[in-house]
Amino acid sequence: MNRTRSSAILALAVLGLACGDDDEPDLDDGADDSTADDGDDDGPSTVTADATTATSAPGTETGDGMTTGVDETSGGSTTGGPPVREPCDIEDGRCIFRYDTFGDEQLWTDVLRLHELVQGLPPTMALGVGLKVDADAVPADVLASADLEDPATTLALLELDAVVGVMAEVEDGTITRIGITCALCHSTVDDSVAPGIGARLDGWPNRDLDPGAIIALTPGLSTYAESLGVDAATAAAALTSWGPGRYDARFNQDLMSAPVLIPPAYGLAEVELEAYTGEGPISYWNAYVAVTQMGAQGNFSDAELGIDIMHDPDLLTSKLPALRDYQFSIAAPPPPDGSFDAEAAARGQLLFAGVAQCSTCHSGPAFTDAPTLHAPEEVGMDPTEAARSKTGLYRTTPLRGAWQHPPYFHDGSAATFADVVAHYDALFELGLTEGERADLAAYLASL
Ligand code: HEC
Ligand code: HEC
Repeated sequence: MNRTRSSAILALAVLGLACGDDDEPDLDDGADDSTADDGDDDGPSTVTADATTATSAPGTETGDGMTTGVDETSGGSTTGGPPVREPCDIEDGRCIFRYDTFGDEQLWTDVLRLHELVQGLPPTMALGVGLKVDADAVPADVLASADLEDPATTLALLELDAVVGVMAEVEDGTITRIGITCALCHSTVDDSVAPGIGARLDGWPNRDLDPGAIIALTPGLSTYAESLGVDAATAAAALTSWGPGRYDARFNQDLMSAPVLIPPAYGLAEVELEAYTGEGPISYWNAYVAVTQMGAQGNFSDAELGIDIMHDPDLLTSKLPALRDYQFSIAAPPPPDGSFDAEAAARGQLLFAGVAQCSTCHSGPAFTDAPTLHAPEEVGMDPTEAARSKTGLYRTTPLRGAWQHPPYFHDGSAATFADVVAHYDALFELGLTEGERADLAAYLASL
């Protein structure tokens, strides 16, 4: 194993991403209205730019090491330090989704030492691995004058809680604690200021984010790999093979590497089972990911998976109901005006419910028959992911907002709706004409 060399290669790969980042998602203006963000801002935007230069006061870190919450108080003022961050109210699902690390600094700081990597990272490189900047958290004049080549800007953004899904404590210009939140993978921004910089879009999968590359670049990778029983080079090879928008939430459990697309966390209110394989209800899956993937200090037990992780205090479980309610409140974004041919979509709707038989599985308000699940061969899917799961089956994917997140199927095996339709046309021997296939694709784009 040659860590130095692989680190250098990885660093180059990330630089390549940063420079070649020309395929930003085309977020139409019309989509901006469609998020759950009602525009009321309980985020950290009340922090003034002064906080970025202030020195830290003792006691800014809570006893349990959390850096959660965003409500700024004047708690630090007696010693002249920055405001103390209050934890999220356990009723405030949006705050939890965006800002709560559940104490996962134990993984991201103590094991992976992500803070050492981020310390020297210019914003251009952070944007290059798909991290997003919440423009509403940064005073406009500060943003306009920010030097995106200077790592100090990254620290300033972190102090403002403006790096989506990344929470850090900075003392005297040094990151001391860093952790991640659900928003890292399940939020993006509308690019209204610049690519990667804009208003938050909660629930939208961050398909630019390359979680595997980020983990592979951390100085603690070998410690992490050791805890999994593999060497760092093996772990790095797996992690760097995933690519943007993909993550493997089972890699550290079964050591297989077969990433899936990061799915949306919107449009789920009427979906009974979550995850591509229908693993369980939403809070089951949220707890699994938080504890086993994010490194949350929370409880998760599943005898079938052989997992029994307990923490005292448990910084997760009491927050799951509000976290669930917030996710359920996020509607799928409607398609942008003029983004599909309405007449073709109307014809496609008839095919969907008729000869193409799509609605036999994609039924109901969310276009899914879950909790019914399907064998891989029934839908012509690669069986790998199903075989790794508890159910051995695939859940019919809800289709609202599907226009927003190509490619399709859990493994991204269909690049476009046309590819999806071609897949089913062949599998079910539907014998659709070219026009009918286009109509079906138009209908999918209209949902
Ligand atoms: C490192 C990236 C990452 C983080 C962080 C993350 N997720 Fe996910 N999430 C994924 C991936 C990948 C999947 C798909 C897993 C699968 O189906 O096998 C997923 C699946 C989901 C789903 C299921 C969606 C559906 O259609 O069934 C929900 C809901 C969800 N995540 C919510 C959350 C919440 C809430 C958090 C914070 C506790 C979180 N995620 C943290 C990557 C992430
Ligand atoms: C037998 C049940 C069944 C039928 C019939 C069916 N689907 Fe699906 N569909 C599924 C399942 C299961 C998945 C998840 C597959 C995966 O990702 O592994 C899926 C996934 C999809 C997706 C991917 C969504 C995404 O976000 O990745 C689209 C689009 C889709 N189906 C459209 C259709 C259309 C159009 C038809 C009719 C031609 C159809 N389906 C017929 C069960 C079905």
